Order: sequence, then C-alpha cells, then structure tokens
Amino acid sequence: MADLKHTTKTYTLASGDKIPAIGLGTWQSPKNETAKAVKHALSVGYRYIDTAYAYGNESEVGEGIRASGVPREQIWVTTKLDNPWHKRVAEGIDASLKNLGLDYVDLYLMHWPSSTRPDDLKKHYDDWNFIDTWREMQKLLGTGKVRNIGVSNFGITNLEKLLNDPSCKVKPAVNQIELHPNNPSPKLVAYCKEKGIHVTGYSCLGSTNSPLYKDQTLLSIAQNKGKTPQQVLLLWGIQNGWDVIPKSVTPERIESNFALDGWELTEEEMNKLNNLPDRFKVCGDDWLPVKVFFGDDE
Ligand SMILES: NC(=O)c1ccc[n+]([C@@H]2O[C@H](COP(=O)([O-])OP(=O)(O)OC[C@H]3O[C@@H](n4cnc5c(N)ncnc54)[C@H](OP(=O)(O)O)[C@@H]3O)[C@@H](O)[C@H]2O)c1
Repeated sequence: MADLKHTTKTYTLASGDKIPAIGLGTWQSPKNETAKAVKHALSVGYRYIDTAYAYGNESEVGEGIRASGVPREQIWVTTKLDNPWHKRVAEGIDASLKNLGLDYVDLYLMHWPSSTRPDDLKKHYDDWNFIDTWREMQKLLGTGKVRNIGVSNFGITNLEKLLNDPSCKVKPAVNQIELHPNNPSPKLVAYCKEKGIHVTGYSCLGSTNSPLYKDQTLLSIAQNKGKTPQQVLLLWGIQNGWDVIPKSVTPERIESNFALDGWELTEEEMNKLNNLPDRFKVCGDDWLPVKVFFGDDE
C-alpha cells in the first residue's frame, strides 16, 4: 500500500503538462488568511493552487507562494477570467498576472460561459458570447503568459457548441466543474474524457456547511477505514480520474486533506459513493444573466 502516492500523482493534459491530483482551493478564503493558507499548504507538500480574479485574493495567493520559498516552476497555478472581462481577455490575464506577481499561469480558465456586461452585471452582451471569448483566449497561448487554457462550468450543451465552432482550433485542456458524490455528473465526465478534456472537481467536499457530512454511507466508509469523511471524498474524486481542489484556511484541515497516501477506496466503496441517492448542487446559474446549465450534466 505504501506505493499508493496520491499526493504526487499527476494527470497529463493534451499539452503534455502534468496537473497535480490535489490542489488548494481559495474561493471564500478571506484576504487576510489567504497568504498564510497558501504558504502552509506549500510547506506541507501541496504543489497546486486554484484561484480566480473574481475571488479577490490573487495578490494574497501570490504573496503566499513567494513566502513559501518553493520555486515557481514546482507549483501549478490556475486562475480564471472573470465574466465581465470576456471582451478584454488580453487585459484580463495581465490583471491576474499583476495581482499574482507572476510571469505566467499554468492554466487560465474561462470562469463561466457568460459574457456579462461590465456596465450592468445583470445583462449579457448582445454581440459577444463564450465562443468569441475562447477565440481570444486561444491567442494567449503564443504569449508565454499561459501554459494551458480551459473552461469552467461548461455542460455538454455548451461544450458541443464550442467544440463544433470552426473558430475552436485548440480544445480546452480542462473543464473545471462541480463534482462531489451528490453531484457526480457521470455523463459530463464521460463526455470530457471522450474529447480529451481533463476534469477538475470543485466544491469537492460539498463546499461550506457541506450536507455530505451527514450522509450515512460516507460516514460509515470513513469510519471503517479510519479516515475523515473529507479524505474519503477527496480520494473518491482522484480515483474517479479528476483532480480535486479542497479549500481550507485552517492549518490542520489543510494538512489532513493532504494525508491521502498509502490507502485507497475499494471498488465496492467507490460504487456506493458513485450512487448516493441525494442530489444537490452548490453553484447554480440564477445569478448570471444567461442560463448555463440545462439539466443534469447538460
Ligand atoms: N470554477 C468555479 O466556478 C468554482 C466554483 C466553486 C469552487 N471552485 C474552486 O474549488 C475550490 C473548492 O470548492 P469550495 O471552496 O466550494 O468548497 P470545498 O473545498 O468543497 O469546501 C470548503 C469548505 O470545507 C471546509 N473544510 C475544508 N477541509 C475540511 C475538513 N478537513 N474538515 C471540515 N471542513 C473542511 C472549509 O472550511 P475552512 O476553510 O474554514 O477550513 C470550507 O468551509 C474553491 O475554493 C475554488 O478554488 C471553483
């Protein structure tokens, strides 16, 4: 069992770059706690940080990276283009790099398939959509500012639109989507796999005040294995083939979420978690000016 090294496991993207199986999430990490959390995560072995312009803490993520002393090239950094920046992709990456204090990011994601008007966040542009945004994002690949480009919150409907458009010359390297046993999205995950798009699972613990921690199937698996429910949820994602990005600003949780080596879930345990009866989604689309989800996985 000692060879089961999940924390150094990577998934190879279409570019050949290797994204680690576990990273630190930073959505809702308060500005004054983010640098410390990032530094702590890197000091205990994490080599991957997920942030976004919209989280308002890219500067603090950069601060934590520098304070850690870990060489930049050993760390995978993902950030995201904010919705009101869809017509300003070149400016968007520059703003994020300036905040982060970095020369490049490993992965730049379109945060949502919504080209929101900056002058009125309740409105979508009439003359621009995510296909136009992707056309601009593809141009970033030649600038050295991004090593890979991808999308987030794309269901099958929008991925089909994007991949079938003649302007799409580079497939998204990654689709970052909500994934936990109450939102397992098997059809979307299979679709991404078939298209050669790697998947990152967000809200992998069920997010803030996760209802999953009351799930008896999860609790009994965790108890039988002598692991925390969070560790079981993370390994469930990694064993299913996607990387996981649990968020925490609590040092002990940052450490325990990374204690994933030397054990694994059996096929039976995986099957049980893949088939929990309850369903819930943390991130809906009602706050956006356009619908982006069209039913389960769509
Ligand atoms: N692309 C997108 O649209 C999108 C959307 C949502 C999330 N994300 C990314 O995915 C990351 C993870 O998702 P998330 O932040 O929604 O939720 P999450 O990682 O599923 O859960 C975070 C919550 O769990 C708590 N927690 C963490 N480890 C724990 C442990 N071992 N025991 C008990 N509680 C624990 C955290 O509390 P403390 O921090 O107080 O410890 C926090 O309240 C985000 O931070 C972000 O980077 C992306």
